[in-house]
Amino acid sequence: MRLRHVKDAFKICASNKDICIENPTDYKGKWREFLENADSLSLEVGCGKGQFLVSLSKENEHSLFLGLELMTSVICRAVQKVKEENIKNVLLINKDAALLNELFDENEVDKIYINFPDPWPKARHDKRRLTYSKYLEMYKRILKKDGVIRFKTDNFDLYEFSKESFSNYLKDDFKCGIVEYMGDEILTEFETKFKALGNPIYFIEGTFK
Ligand SMILES: C[S@@+](CC[C@H](N)C(=O)[O-])C[C@H]1O[C@@H](n2cnc3c(N)ncnc32)[C@H](O)[C@@H]1O
Repeated sequence: MRLRHVKDAFKICASNKDICIENPTDYKGKWREFLENADSLSLEVGCGKGQFLVSLSKENEHSLFLGLELMTSVICRAVQKVKEENIKNVLLINKDAALLNELFDENEVDKIYINFPDPWPKARHDKRRLTYSKYLEMYKRILKKDGVIRFKTDNFDLYEFSKESFSNYLKDDFKCGIVEYMGDEILTEFETKFKALGNPIYFIEGTFK
């Protein structure tokens, strides 16, 4: 990554603090206050350039959407989208998912999306996968009782690993398998690419025990 590009990314985030929240741990337990009468709070972990959240936010103007993304050079593109489209119900957080417990109170979130996370294919990197037990413990803590978590990937090995991992945490009626598209779904950026290649897309969706 070119240094200049990174510098620009920091500048874009720093000059849009109403969108890319500067000290997000200050808002733990208070996120809903950003949107008057917010009827729900959804979180995408690893939101990338924000395509999914921006589209979803337009269809649900009374819901608040938070995007968490580790890479400043990536989240800055989401910041630009939110700004250009004058969207008022998306906030972005440039932090590592490892900090989820510092960012959210217990039972604060209604829905969590984990869309096409990095597969970390080497066995010795399994702890880095966003569906590793350490992360599931945090999702369980911050999600409301009966709040829904949805995971998608085109990576079969990650799907199998995640199914095993989720099965220890989700109620037995969780759903999983290959996504069957009806044509009106909101797609993520990576989903659009993988679907166009004809890759099967796998999902897991359920509520925590
Ligand atoms: C393959 S991209 C998918 C982006 C988007 N969700 C989509 O489906 O188009 C995965 C994203 O997750 C981010 N990510 C990976 N590990 C993360 C972590 N621990 N905390 C926050 N974001 C993370 C990466 O920087 C990357 O932008």
